[in-house]
Amino acid sequence: MTSRVPHPMAPDPSLESLAQAALDVREGAYAPYSRFLVGAALRVEGGRVFTGVNVENATYGLTVCAERTAVLKAVSEGFRVFEAIAIATDHDPPATPCGLCRQTLAEFALDLPILLVNPKGRRVQVHLAALLPQAFRPSDLLDRPGRPSGSQP
Ligand code: THU
Repeated sequence: MTSRVPHPMAPDPSLESLAQAALDVREGAYAPYSRFLVGAALRVEGGRVFTGVNVENATYGLTVCAERTAVLKAVSEGFRVFEAIAIATDHDPPATPCGLCRQTLAEFALDLPILLVNPKGRRVQVHLAALLPQAFRPSDLLDRPGRPSGSQP
């Protein structure tokens, strides 16, 4: 089956190590309920990589996706400039990030390259902006006329 992402790009070979990091970390996902293992590897400015897995919960609703785990780790360590993310699932074609994760990533980088990967070697690349058109952005709140200055994040 061909990927259904809008405006796919040619996969960037320089992101292959990020793809591998996402595939490797995926093995440790905590997904006893869905058994749908997801791994994410987020490269930030300066080249550091923050990985994440989905962490499920017996209450279901508390589940955190792999992508958001990676974002929370990066931001907690002081990194807010994101360069690329690889997301690993065993879907073929590889699954796209959920809406919550798209919006979380868009907070920091709407132009983020996303590499979707699976263990069979399939690679699909797309820009976050193509997956989240007409996104609600930080500027929608921060750039309002009359907003007190000096209150930027
Ligand atoms: N999941 C992710 O980790 N990322 C996504 O973007 C989609 C869904 C996880 C959440 C849950 O643990 C499992 O996949 C099934 O939804």
